[in-house]
Amino acid sequence: MSFALSTHAGDPARLATPFLAVALANDGKFPRALAALDKSTGGALSRAVRQRDFKGSRDETLLVLAKGRGPQRVLLVGMGATADASAVTRAASVAGRKANAMGVGRMAFWGGALDAKGIENAAIGTSLGSWEYAELKSEAGSGKRQTPLSAAVICVGDAAGTAAALANGRAVAEGQRIARRLAIMPGNLCTPEYIAETAQDIAKRHKLKCTVMGRKEMEKLQMGSFLAVAQGTPQDPKLITIEYNGAGKDDAPVALVGKGLCFDSGGISIKPADRMEWMKFDMSGAAGVLGAMEAIARMKLKINVVGLIGSTTNMPSGTAMNPGDVVRASNGKTIEIINTDAEGRLVLADVLAYAARYKPQAVIDAATLTGAVVIALGNTAVGVLGNDQAMIDEVLGAGRSGGEPGWQLPMWPEFRDQIKSDVADIKNTGGRGAGTITAALFLAEFAQGYKWVHLDIAGTAYSENDLVAIPRGPTGTPVRTFVEFVRGRAR
Ligand code: BES
Ligand code: MN
Ligand code: ZN
Repeated sequence: MSFALSTHAGDPARLATPFLAVALANDGKFPRALAALDKSTGGALSRAVRQRDFKGSRDETLLVLAKGRGPQRVLLVGMGATADASAVTRAASVAGRKANAMGVGRMAFWGGALDAKGIENAAIGTSLGSWEYAELKSEAGSGKRQTPLSAAVICVGDAAGTAAALANGRAVAEGQRIARRLAIMPGNLCTPEYIAETAQDIAKRHKLKCTVMGRKEMEKLQMGSFLAVAQGTPQDPKLITIEYNGAGKDDAPVALVGKGLCFDSGGISIKPADRMEWMKFDMSGAAGVLGAMEAIARMKLKINVVGLIGSTTNMPSGTAMNPGDVVRASNGKTIEIINTDAEGRLVLADVLAYAARYKPQAVIDAATLTGAVVIALGNTAVGVLGNDQAMIDEVLGAGRSGGEPGWQLPMWPEFRDQIKSDVADIKNTGGRGAGTITAALFLAEFAQGYKWVHLDIAGTAYSENDLVAIPRGPTGTPVRTFVEFVRGRAR
C-alpha cells in the first residue's frame, strides 16, 4: 500500500487532523509559532516544556489531547541537541510509528521552519516510521486492529517551492517501501524470479529497459563464480539489469549493483539453525537497487543509471559446490572455494565484471556481505570500502546526507595476503580477522576498469533489534545512499 504525502501551509492549529506531531529540540523553548496550538491544549504544551515534563531529548515523546476543530492529539517528539536534517527524519519516524500504533489513520508533522531538505526528510520519516508488512496476516486473526497510518501532512511555512521537496520525499519514501517489502518477504515468496518480476514492473511503470538472464545465458558468459553458488538450487538464478536514461546516450552511467541472495543457508558450509531465518534478508542489496531505481525514475534525474542484480539462493544439495572446489569467473580468474557460506562475493564477482561493459562513471555495490561488519559497526554504520578515495568520500557524504552514515575501512595490500590460494588465483575467505576487508579485497579483483565503492550493509539493511525510530526488520538502507549519490552526480 502506498503512503499519501501532502503539505499544509499556515498555522498547524487550524489543521483538522486526528494527530499532529510537533518536533522540538532540547533547548527548553516553546516555539512562538505554536501559540494557537498551545491554547487548544489549555496551555499544556508550553507548560510541559517549561516544567521539563518534556525535555526534548532524542526519541522522547509526550502525548497531549487538544480540543477544538484543529488537531485532536498533539505528540511532542524530541530531537535532542542537534536538530539537523537527520534529526527531523528520526523525529518524524518516531511520530509515524506512534501514530500507526495508535491506529489514527492519518497524521500531520510540524518541525519548525523546514527548508526543502527538511520537508523531504519529514515526509520520508513519517513513511519510514509507519511502514509495516501486514500482507501475510489474515484479517480474521488480527482482531481489533485499528486503521493503519496511510497518510501524512507536512506543515510548511508557506506553500512556495514546497511541491518539489515533497515530490522528492515521496519518491524516496516509495523506493524505501519497495526495498523494505522485498527484504522482509519470506524466501519462498521473494524468489529470484520474483525479484526479476519486480524489476520488470518498475521498468514498465517508468518505461525503463530491463533484461533478465538465467542460468543458460550466464553459462554463455562463462560466469562460473555466480553459477557455482546457483548450482545447489533448482531455482533459475537471475542476472537482472534495469536501465534508467535521464541523460544523453553517450553519458557514462552510474552503476548500482546489488547482492540478491533470496536465502542464504550457507550451503554445504551450513549455518547454525539459530536465527537462520534472518537470511531471507540476504537480498537487501538487490532490494536497495530496485528501491533506488524507483526513486530515481520518479525524480526524473538528468543522469543515466544502470541497476545490476545477481539473484539466487545458497543451498546445500547433491549438486551444490563444495569446499575445495575451484571455479573460474567470467574475467578468467580462478577461485578456490574455502567456505561455501562466503557466497555473496562469488555472485558479485561476475556481476561486477559484467558491469565493466557499461563503461560506468562510477559503480557502487551494496551487499549484506559479512557478519564481521555487524561486529565492527553494529546496526549504526555502513561499512564503506573502495578503490578511489575521492569517490569513497562522495559516497560517505551521500550516506550522511541520507541519514545512512557509513564508515570507511582500509584496503591495504597487507590484508590481500589473507586471500592468497595454494591452487587458484584467489580464495573466497581470508580467515577470522578483518573479514569485511578481505571480502572487499576479493570483490576488488573483479571491480576493475572503473571507480568503485562497496557498501557492506549486513548490519544496517535490517536489524534484529528494535531501533526505536524503526522496528526490527528492514530499514530501507541503502536506498537513500544510492539516491543521494546519484542526485549529486546528476546535471
Ligand atoms: N549473508 C552472509 C553475511 C551476513 C551475516 C549477513 C550476518 C547478515 C548477518 C554472508 O553470505 C556470509 O555468510 N558471510 C560469512 C563469510 C565467512 C564464511 C567468511 C560470514 O560473515 O560469516
Ligand atoms: Mn553466506
Ligand atoms: Zn550471504
